Amino acid sequence: MTKHLSDLTGHRILVTGGASGLGLAAARVFRELGAELFLGDLNAQALIPIAGEIDARGHCAGDVAVESDCEHMVEQAVSRLGGLDGVFHCAGISDRVERALDLDMAAWQRGIDVNVRGTMMICRAAGRVMVKAGRGAIVNVSSVNGLGGIPRRHSYAPAKAAVAMITRTLACEWGSAGVRVNAVAPGYIATPMIESLAAEGKVDVKRLEDRTPLARLGQPSEVGHVAAFLLSEAASYVSGAIVPVDGGWTAYGGPGPVQTA
Ligand SMILES: NC(=O)c1ccc[n+]([C@@H]2O[C@H](COP(=O)([O-])OP(=O)(O)OC[C@H]3O[C@@H](n4cnc5c(N)ncnc54)[C@H](O)[C@@H]3O)[C@@H](O)[C@H]2O)c1
Repeated sequence: MTKHLSDLTGHRILVTGGASGLGLAAARVFRELGAELFLGDLNAQALIPIAGEIDARGHCAGDVAVESDCEHMVEQAVSRLGGLDGVFHCAGISDRVERALDLDMAAWQRGIDVNVRGTMMICRAAGRVMVKAGRGAIVNVSSVNGLGGIPRRHSYAPAKAAVAMITRTLACEWGSAGVRVNAVAPGYIATPMIESLAAEGKVDVKRLEDRTPLARLGQPSEVGHVAAFLLSEAASYVSGAIVPVDGGWTAYGGPGPVQTA
């Protein structure tokens, strides 16, 4: 049988945010590619049937903004998987999409705690295991909103920029220990997060599609396949990369819709 480029046979991978959206789709992709999985998520109820469906070795409920929960999630993953080769750290939240003048600082802080502190704490806990083992790969989730300025995303955009920089700084620090750290920077992907922003009138899907060179939203599995590549041996010389998975969104610098007819 021909091996898939991103073969993950035997890779022991923790997926945070594995109960929904990009994390769930990626978990399905990783499993198809042969990985053994452990899922972590805040949503305990959703985790149970999903862990069964994808035949995960285990799952654990926890809040990635809480230090002890991050340590517990990684410890449980290591214990149930018998080690840790990869982490897809996908747990994250949107912000309220509100004007700076009206900013609710408690909501702003929650976004920073989940998206920034959570990334640092999951990476630190996983890094302790991987640096000791002398091998491992971590893939974080930044966003196109962390690569360029955007109005009304005052918690989310700085948080996702910080995720990109945490990824680079850790890649620089852990590379000599055999640990690679990369991130995907998704554009607008059809997940419950985008569906609820659209339902609240905070994003306009038609305008997003018009602004995207590939003229559509992304599918969650399209991010999962790039994450699988970054976790696999096929990406053995890739570290510190922030890989856009955005249908060309960041390539486009025009003043309005891409499709001008
Ligand atoms: N959907 C997009 O267009 C898009 C684009 C760029 C980046 N992202 C990022 O991708 C990641 C996943 O987003 P999604 O669209 O799949 O959203 P989603 O809401 O469908 O899934 C997010 C998952 O993370 C979990 N989660 C939220 N807060 C948590 C916490 N504190 N601790 C543990 N788990 C927590 C949720 O329970 C949920 O299962 C996020 O980091 C998001 O910022 C999404």
